Amino acid sequence: MLKKYEKVMKSEYDAWYAENGEYRQKVASDERRLAFHLMPKTGWMNDPNGLCQYHGVYHIYYQYTPFEPTGELKLWGHYTTKDFVHYQDDGPVLFPDEEIDAHGVYSGSAFIEEDTMHFFYTGNLKYFDRDDYDYINSGRGSNTISFTSKNGHDFTEKQLLMTTDDYPEDMSNHVRDPKIFKKDDTYYMVLGARDHKSKGMVLLYQSKDLASWTYANRITTEEPFGYMWECPDVFELDGQYILTCCPQGVPKDGIDYENVHQAVSMKLDYDFETNDYQLKDMHLLDRGFDFYAQQTFEDEQGRRILIGWMGIPDADYTNPTVEAGWQHALTIPRELCLENGKLIQKPMEELKQLRQDKSQKAFSKECGAAFDHVVYEAEIDFEYCQNMELSMRKGITLSYQDEILTLDLGAFGAGRTTRSVKVTELEHLQIFADTTSVEIFVNHGEEVFTSRMYQLEGELKLAGSCAGTMTVYTLDSFIIEDKEK
Ligand code: FRU
Repeated sequence: MLKKYEKVMKSEYDAWYAENGEYRQKVASDERRLAFHLMPKTGWMNDPNGLCQYHGVYHIYYQYTPFEPTGELKLWGHYTTKDFVHYQDDGPVLFPDEEIDAHGVYSGSAFIEEDTMHFFYTGNLKYFDRDDYDYINSGRGSNTISFTSKNGHDFTEKQLLMTTDDYPEDMSNHVRDPKIFKKDDTYYMVLGARDHKSKGMVLLYQSKDLASWTYANRITTEEPFGYMWECPDVFELDGQYILTCCPQGVPKDGIDYENVHQAVSMKLDYDFETNDYQLKDMHLLDRGFDFYAQQTFEDEQGRRILIGWMGIPDADYTNPTVEAGWQHALTIPRELCLENGKLIQKPMEELKQLRQDKSQKAFSKECGAAFDHVVYEAEIDFEYCQNMELSMRKGITLSYQDEILTLDLGAFGAGRTTRSVKVTELEHLQIFADTTSVEIFVNHGEEVFTSRMYQLEGELKLAGSCAGTMTVYTLDSFIIEDKEK
């Protein structure tokens, strides 16, 4: 009934939902479902969208295909929470149901101003009226669309702000993923873009009223860094602007850029008077296999929070959960800080509410802290570490040797092998292991590895030339309730 390049009306989804109780049960009974991560109830999930906190409630929208697990038709799903433990699942709330977004309500963001939530997203169009489209420089439409809301649930009509014809002439058809920030009394929008020469960049627009936008500049590296930059975000941390984005087509360089697509941060020194800028300190946001399309927002306490898609497009590794009718999840929320000039990601404080049984063990030399937990948080504080091997699950290790920290998924990665990062001194590890995922924060968030893993047999033990303390907590699950229909 629901086809990839046809609109999806809410009424069609509702009819589909009523007929698919068995599909939901099948997914819910999969033992690989995660305990403390947001997932699609059925089907596919990708980018987090529209992240914000409004009147105390956190809103987490996301790219959602409820119908099947390969992500053909893009809707926006919606979760809300007040504490990052209890969630309400609203199901899909934004549909590709108009001419301006008929082939997918693609990624976008929220910006709160004057007690109103302003949403911006990309309406995707793909044309089939000719057979010579390359779908890069021709054959696609990327509309920038907005709507507002006073509660995150009821939306005003969609307003078309810009079409493919409005972007600079040297752009390809790939321009998308609007994100807003404000500087003094001017609003800025960043859009991810690919130009005709296949150079990836960010387009910067400005506005005084959030409705009419004018092109201000393009932000990119001098030498091309990939052909397309998806999901850009610009925000301020301690007076320093940071640009995060997802460059595609960056070649692997030793242990760097090993994934098919990247998620990076750069410091952006921007002069808003002259539009001169400098990009520096390029840093990979994550060293694991499954991290992409991150988005940040500032919450009511002034914290800069990042959530990423715990997945990646076009990878040659897979997720066996597809057999059970679902795929992908969002990462745990992380707080961003600048410490000694470095961008740091810390698991949000709220996640401590999940902690259950605690065990602690000091270790030295050949240490033997051993547990068979599957869903856990482990904190390892090293007094020193020359080398070590940490088993996180049977057959899955994190090892440190010659200043290189390596995640090795062994036979349990569904095609994922090893990923590494240079760490001059290993001081601290904080590991969040869910049934089929792991997030590893290195040295209090200087580096992070995010990955899916497919081994449900627990084994947590540490050996090596090292000393310190290991603290392990079993973790509780999120409590997720459906919105009353
Ligand atoms: C990133 C992305 C975005 C796009 C969305 C479509 O994963 O490709 O650029 O808006 O996904 O689902």
